[in-house]
Amino acid sequence: MKQSIAIVGCGTTGTALGKLFVEIGYPIVGVASRRLESARRTAGLIGISNYSNDAVQITATADIVFITTPDVVIQSVCDAIAKQSGFKKGSFVFHCSGALSSEILASARQCGAHIGSLHPLQSFASVEQALQMVSGSTYTFEGDTEVLSLARELVKDIGADFIQIRAQDKPLYHAAAVVASNYLVTLVNLAIELNELIGISKKSSVKALLPLIRGTLNNVETLGIHKALTGPIVRGDIDTITSHIRAIKTRAPHFLPLYMALGNSAVSIAEAKGGLEEETIHGMRTLFAL
Ligand SMILES: NC(=O)c1ccc[n+]([C@@H]2O[C@H](COP(=O)([O-])OP(=O)(O)OC[C@H]3O[C@@H](n4cnc5c(N)ncnc54)[C@H](OP(=O)(O)O)[C@@H]3O)[C@@H](O)[C@H]2O)c1
Repeated sequence: MKQSIAIVGCGTTGTALGKLFVEIGYPIVGVASRRLESARRTAGLIGISNYSNDAVQITATADIVFITTPDVVIQSVCDAIAKQSGFKKGSFVFHCSGALSSEILASARQCGAHIGSLHPLQSFASVEQALQMVSGSTYTFEGDTEVLSLARELVKDIGADFIQIRAQDKPLYHAAAVVASNYLVTLVNLAIELNELIGISKKSSVKALLPLIRGTLNNVETLGIHKALTGPIVRGDIDTITSHIRAIKTRAPHFLPLYMALGNSAVSIAEAKGGLEEETIHGMRTLFAL
């Protein structure tokens, strides 16, 4: 018999996890949210009858509690439950934030619970999309040693990959996720802005750039970072880079510092890949330092 789960915070992540846990055979003792309506909707979606707007009503008997509220209130929600002795002794309490350490759940330890953070390394826009993206995703754990084997088991049952990190590394870990996801969106937006300057509409730009972006990501997956880097930097084409810098200085000067910084990083990849003369590497570094 699998351990029972309570979910506090009935938004995208809480609802998707609830649905997932039911599908893989974990009994859900109940769901709670700030608004009763949200808890009722999630209970309906995952097919259970116990829901509440009072978290303690559902956490007190659960073996595992997931607090899936927004990051800013996880600690206060946990503290409020602990204050009412709402965690079972020996139970496991998780949050799903990528940025925050499990230590924000420290009050649950006063009830004899063990704590951890289990972060789905994914961008969930909706419950349906979250469920579709589980397989092949990675869940990142950090927390008490007593929680490790349970966290591993949950992730294995979900069908995702597991990694463990240290609490002090969470800000850097989360920064990496932001770079890979949020800044990718930002870079695409910048490319669209540059195209708009030469009269290509946003719609045409998105349509034209997406195959390039997908192809590049596919190359990262199948060939690795070094081989996936193509273009003027890896060819050591200083004339082309100079023409970019000149055009950006004139027509999109706000983009210049970022173009230079990213160019410098790309030179490091090209250098590690090998094949370029030392002089060419030096020439590109000088250009990007201007
Ligand atoms: N979405 C993602 O892409 C994603 C990915 C990885 C990790 N996460 C993490 O997952 C957690 C939840 O994020 P989310 O995007 O799923 O948030 P969300 O969709 O905004 O859901 C959070 C829910 O918590 C409820 N809530 C707010 N304050 C509460 C309180 N004081 N007590 C109880 N419930 C409360 C809200 O429901 P009502 O106010 O309607 O009751 C809201 O629907 C966060 O820690 C986030 O960092 C999210």
